[in-house]
Amino acid sequence: MKRFRRLRSSEAIRTLVRETKVDKSELIYPIFISEGENIKNPVDSMPGVFQYSIDQADELLQRISDSGISGLLIFGIPKHKDEMASSAYDENGVTQQAIRYIKNKYPELLVIADVCLCEYTSHGHCGVVHEHKIMNDETLPLLSKMAVSLAKAGADIIAPSDMMDGRVAAIRAALDKNGFVSTPIMSYSAKFASAYYSPFRDAAESAPCFGDRKTYQMDYANGKEAVREVEDDILEGADIVMVKPALAYLDIVKQASLLGYPLAVYNVSGEYSMVKAAARNGWIDEKKIVLENLTAMKRAGANIIITYHALDAARWLEE
Ligand code: PBG
Ligand code: ZN
Repeated sequence: MKRFRRLRSSEAIRTLVRETKVDKSELIYPIFISEGENIKNPVDSMPGVFQYSIDQADELLQRISDSGISGLLIFGIPKHKDEMASSAYDENGVTQQAIRYIKNKYPELLVIADVCLCEYTSHGHCGVVHEHKIMNDETLPLLSKMAVSLAKAGADIIAPSDMMDGRVAAIRAALDKNGFVSTPIMSYSAKFASAYYSPFRDAAESAPCFGDRKTYQMDYANGKEAVREVEDDILEGADIVMVKPALAYLDIVKQASLLGYPLAVYNVSGEYSMVKAAARNGWIDEKKIVLENLTAMKRAGANIIITYHALDAARWLEE
């Protein structure tokens, strides 16, 4: 008889043969920065997550810095929204100001800048809208301008999340032309049209005011197409690729990891809120569930995990 249990007999032996370990250096924490002053707004659908104005953000930034995780993913929430998302590429936009502030005060933190128009457009779509259609090619120059202005502000990595076709190539060319040849692109390559994003849209104030995102984000039934999306982003020049959401998509994560490029997963807002809600009811053990989920993402092949649990997990991984 094959006795598998021999290697399960004590914590020491289990640790010795454990295949997958999560390290806090692989974690990235998403943050929401609102334009204005004196803001610390709880996001009701995401317990523990707040929108901060820059002047209040030090308590958060200091915690991130002290936690030992690698960095943050920044989402800006501008006061002014319009059809062309002009605040997205304004040198003095909230996101640009926040990045300058963070890189100046916490230079050791990796600042990853999300590139998408939905927080900045009056209609909440990720691209330019014409007669209720989301225009692909007309959106690319705006994303490119946004990426360059975030790189100028000091972003370490540019992360396009819009799902327009050809945006990685367009952004790469714009970054290179403006002297940012060394700024990596982390592309949200296989980003599915998912109901798991709804708490995020409260946090980022980015819900579309008509229709949905199904003409640009992927159909969640499609696994083969997801691999083609990832391959195409690599060909267009992405340095790091991403699968999003994470937990219901670990089959895609596995396949994407086999391409051999650095791979991120985004453990999204709805995944976080479900864990928080069940934990608050005493129905699950939050720490155990979170560590199990993060380990599963790693086991499937992720190298980088973007998660709202990052600060808690960094602590729990040290215990
Ligand atoms: C915007 C964007 C979204 C997320 C990250 N960037 C939501 C969306 O497409 O509406 C989702 C993140 C989360 O749910 O935590 N392009
Ligand atoms: Zn968007």
